[in-house]
Amino acid sequence: MLRTHTCGELRIEDVGKKVKLNGWVQRVRDKGALVWIDLRDRYGITQLFAEEGVTDNALIEKMKSLGREYVISAEGVVSERFSKNDKIPTGDIEIKVEQLEVLNTSKVPPFKVQDDTDGGEDLRMKYRYIDLRRDKVRNALQLRHKMSKATRDYLDKQDFIEVETPVLIKSTPEGARDFLVPSRMNPGEFYALPQSPQTFKQILMVAGFDRYFQLVKCFRDEDLRADRQPEFTQIDCEMAFVEREDILQTFEGLVKYLFKEVKGIEVPDFPRMEYADAMRLYGSDKPDIRFEMTFVDLNTVAKGKGFKVFDDSETVLGICVKGCADYTRKQLDELTNWVKRPQIGAKGLVYVKCNEDGSFKSSVDKFFDQGDLQSWAEEANAEKGDLLLVLSGDVVHTRKALGELRLEMGNRLGLRDRDVFKPLWVLNFPLLEWDEETERFYAMHHPFTSAVPEDLALLEKEPGKVRANAYDMVINGVEIGGGSIRIHDRDVQSRMFDALGFTKEEAQAQFGFLLEAFEYGAPPHGGIAFGFDRLCSLFGGSDSIRDFIAFPKNTSGRDVMIDSPSPAGEEQLKELGINLLPKKD
Ligand code: AMO
Repeated sequence: MLRTHTCGELRIEDVGKKVKLNGWVQRVRDKGALVWIDLRDRYGITQLFAEEGVTDNALIEKMKSLGREYVISAEGVVSERFSKNDKIPTGDIEIKVEQLEVLNTSKVPPFKVQDDTDGGEDLRMKYRYIDLRRDKVRNALQLRHKMSKATRDYLDKQDFIEVETPVLIKSTPEGARDFLVPSRMNPGEFYALPQSPQTFKQILMVAGFDRYFQLVKCFRDEDLRADRQPEFTQIDCEMAFVEREDILQTFEGLVKYLFKEVKGIEVPDFPRMEYADAMRLYGSDKPDIRFEMTFVDLNTVAKGKGFKVFDDSETVLGICVKGCADYTRKQLDELTNWVKRPQIGAKGLVYVKCNEDGSFKSSVDKFFDQGDLQSWAEEANAEKGDLLLVLSGDVVHTRKALGELRLEMGNRLGLRDRDVFKPLWVLNFPLLEWDEETERFYAMHHPFTSAVPEDLALLEKEPGKVRANAYDMVINGVEIGGGSIRIHDRDVQSRMFDALGFTKEEAQAQFGFLLEAFEYGAPPHGGIAFGFDRLCSLFGGSDSIRDFIAFPKNTSGRDVMIDSPSPAGEEQLKELGINLLPKKD
C-alpha cells in the first residue's frame, strides 16, 4: 500500500506514530513561516502541518506550491494540534510533514469541492468525477450502498433469491415509452429495454422460484422530473402462493428494516387507506400524511345561496389552515395567484377568516351571511384564528388543485419535516382508467393486475367500477413502490386483454408467451417494485433522485459527461439497416 492510514482514521491516541497518508489537496493555508494543508480522501480530512525552523525549507516551499486537487503522498508524525477542530473526527491531531511526494497534479477544478459549491448543475454533471469528491454527493452514494446491502440482507433472510433478467427484451406495457435497440442480426427489428422485469418475474413464479427479487435497472422514455430518470433502479420482487396480506407484511417489513438499519428509526405499523378515501380527503393517490388539513366537503352548506360559481360547480371543497386567519390581503392575493397558475389551474380562490372575536370575513360576503359562514366553519371543524381556503369546479380538477394547495400550505407552515417519516399503504386502485382521447380503457397499474375478487364479475359490464387488487407504498407524499396480486389464470388474463380492447391476435402477438406459460401450472402470485432511487433520496432528505445516482442524466435526458445521446456514424447505421432521413437545417 502507498499509505499506512486513511485521512479519516487518526485520533489523539495515535500521537507519536509515523504515518503515510495519500489524498487530494483540499486547501493550502500559507501563513509565511507556517503552512497547513487539508488532505482529503473518501474517509475524511486530515491536517498536514509544517513550520520554518523545524521543517526543511525546500519541503515547505513544495507544500506551498501545491494546487487544489493535487494528489499527494505525505509522510510524517502524528502530533496533537495546538488549536483543535471539533467539527471533524480527526480534529485533535495533525501530521508534522517530513516527506511529500506529488503523485499527480490537477488543473484548477471548475468549481469548489465542498458542500456549498459554486458549480451549477450542468457543470457539476460534466465534471461528475470532481462532484463525486464532495462529501454530500459521496455520502448520498454511501447511503445508497447501505440501502442495497440491507435490502439484500433482509430479502436473503426471507428466502428470496436474486435472479437477473435480460435487458434486451420486448416491450413491457408499463405505460411509458420504450427505448428501442436495433438488432444487427435481425435487420429492421428491435429489442426494447425493460420498463420493468414484470413479465419475467411472473414467468419465474411459473418456473417455481417462489420468492424472487432483483435490484434492477429499468428504462422509461418519459418526461423527466426531480423524482424521475430515464434509467432508474427498482427493488423488484415477486412471491408465489401468497395473498395480498402476505405481500403487505413482507414488504412493510423490508421498509421497516431499512429504517432501522440505515437510519436507526423504529417505524410503527403502516396505516392503510382506500384509494377512494385518499382521493376524497387528500386529492391525491399519494397523500402526505405528515400533516392533517384534509379536505372538507362544503357542497351542502355552500351551494344554493345564489353564488353562481359554486351553484354551477360539480363540487365545492375546502381546507382548514390552522392559525392563519391573520393572513393579509396581500398574502391572500398572492395565494389566489398561486392557485391560478397554469400548473395548478384553479379559476379562483375563496377564503373565510375565522376571526378571534367569533366573526367571519370572507371573499364572498356578498352571497353568504355570518350564519352561512358559521356553518362552513362547523363543517370544517374550524376554530377562531383559522383560515378556510375553498375551491370549486369539476371533481377531478378541484381535488387536484386543492391537493396542491394543501401541500403548499403544509410547506409554508413547516409541516413537512424531512426528518419525520409517515409511510402508508394505498389500496384498491381502480383496475382500469378511461382515456377520452383514444376512447378506450387502460390498465391503471399494468394488464397483469388482478381484480379485487368480488369485483371481477363487473369486468365486462362495468369495467370502470372494478377495483384492482393493487397497492402502493407511499412515504411523505412520494410513491415509493407499487404492486399487485397478479392474474394467474389464462382465461381471466384473456378477459382482461378483451377489456383493454386488444384483439385476440394482438394479445397473442404481444403476450402469447405469458398466456402459454399460464397453461403450464402457474401458481397464484403477486409482487411489488420499489423505486430504489426514490427510497434513497427520501432517506437522504432530498427531493431530487439525481444526487443518489452516480452518473445521472440531466433534465433533457442527456449525460453531459460522456455527451450522450450522440449521432451514430453512417457505417454503423448501415450495418443496423437504419436509413435516417437527411437532417433538415
Ligand atoms: P411502477 O411502474 O409503479 O410498477 O414502478 C415501481 C416504482 O418505481 C419507481 N419509478 C421511478 N423511479 C425513478 N424514475 C422513474 N422514471 C420511475 N418510474 C417509476 C416508483 C414506482 O413506485 N412492474 C411494476 C411493479 C409490480 O407490479 O410489481 C412497476 O414497475 O417509485
